Amino acid sequence: MTLSFRSNKHSGIWDRIRSDDATRLRLKYDAYYHIFEEQNGTRVKKDGKEYVMLSSNDYLGLSHHPKIKEAGVQALQKWGSSTTGARLANGGRIFHRELEEDLADFTGKEACHIFSAGYLACASAITGFIDRKDIIFADKNLHSSLWSGIQLTGANCERFAHNHPEHLRDLLSAENPSANKAIVLEGIYSMEGHIARLPELVEVAQEFNAFVVLDDAHGIGVLGENGQGTADHFALTKEVDVICGSFSKSFSGTGGFVCSSKDAIDYMRSHSKQTIFSAALSPTATACAHAALKIFRSEPEHRERLNKNLSRYRNLLNELQLDTWESETPAVPIVLGKKEKVYYFWKALLEKGVYAIISIAPGVPPGKDLIRTAISAAHTDDDLDIIEEAIRYAAKKI
Ligand SMILES: Cc1ncc(COP(=O)(O)O)c(C=O)c1O
Repeated sequence: MTLSFRSNKHSGIWDRIRSDDATRLRLKYDAYYHIFEEQNGTRVKKDGKEYVMLSSNDYLGLSHHPKIKEAGVQALQKWGSSTTGARLANGGRIFHRELEEDLADFTGKEACHIFSAGYLACASAITGFIDRKDIIFADKNLHSSLWSGIQLTGANCERFAHNHPEHLRDLLSAENPSANKAIVLEGIYSMEGHIARLPELVEVAQEFNAFVVLDDAHGIGVLGENGQGTADHFALTKEVDVICGSFSKSFSGTGGFVCSSKDAIDYMRSHSKQTIFSAALSPTATACAHAALKIFRSEPEHRERLNKNLSRYRNLLNELQLDTWESETPAVPIVLGKKEKVYYFWKALLEKGVYAIISIAPGVPPGKDLIRTAISAAHTDDDLDIIEEAIRYAAKKI
């Protein structure tokens, strides 16, 4: 007997599922949800063919660092696979507190709380502090985790033009002076690679006595003297109220964090559903993130190598006059404008053994369809040679 998993039920929901254009197109062009059967550093294998990975957020190239692997293995041996509970209940362990203390110290804040995903952490950086009666001012190009947090608060939200302090000031000026106001920013914008104009944005925030939340998922590890992030880079740590982020970029792990004052973290622990109703970060993930944090401090060579690789990559893109949306960081978009162009560029890269990601509207603003690339300290000179040949080839094809 053949079993069919296709539902033959009839309802509006099943009709929508079966006739969804977004899913049909995604399956037709097969650009997402790929599975690699092997990985060796920056090289991945798919359907037997090897590719150089050019889209990973492993900026410092630590995902195969022996100290991180060892820390993960030891934590698994000692503590088992999971804490199987929320921090509020039975999930808290001494290793959570140790990482939180070190991470708070690293970011220049008093306290920290860690989460089992960056998405949860960044949503919680909003829901944990903002009330429905407050007004939120959000950069238009924020990450989805922050939009989720904003929606969950039920507060009114005004969107200001991307990285545009003057527009933010105009919007703030139009609001009731006695309302509580919060501004939500990213340190490095993940698609664009732009660094927040933090000095001017913070000046506006101070003018209106607004609470500032900064998602530094892509800034931590990359910017600042020892990778402390965007606020440190501008010497504005005190002026930013909350710093949140993810362990899945420079930390090369999984999980996320929110850092702020002790009062604020205690308050968030009482009010954030992402904290109260979600299991604590696993022993392995905590140990790996903690080992990465120690490496940020003790091994500056990864950031040096990242900058060297980035400079070679940027020179290539500039020489080919490719539009990188003025990216200033290792998150480097190649903006091609139209989804057809993006698709053929991406196919050409694959042909030449380079794996990158397509990002098209509504994931990016209309007219900004792009290939999202990212440079890593783990890219070797050989990798960069392959990347260079592939990009030259793809640029000729479009
Ligand atoms: C700016 C930003 N914030 C938050 C997240 C969520 O982090 P994670 O993927 O670790 O859940 C991401 C990840 O894409 C991100 O780019």
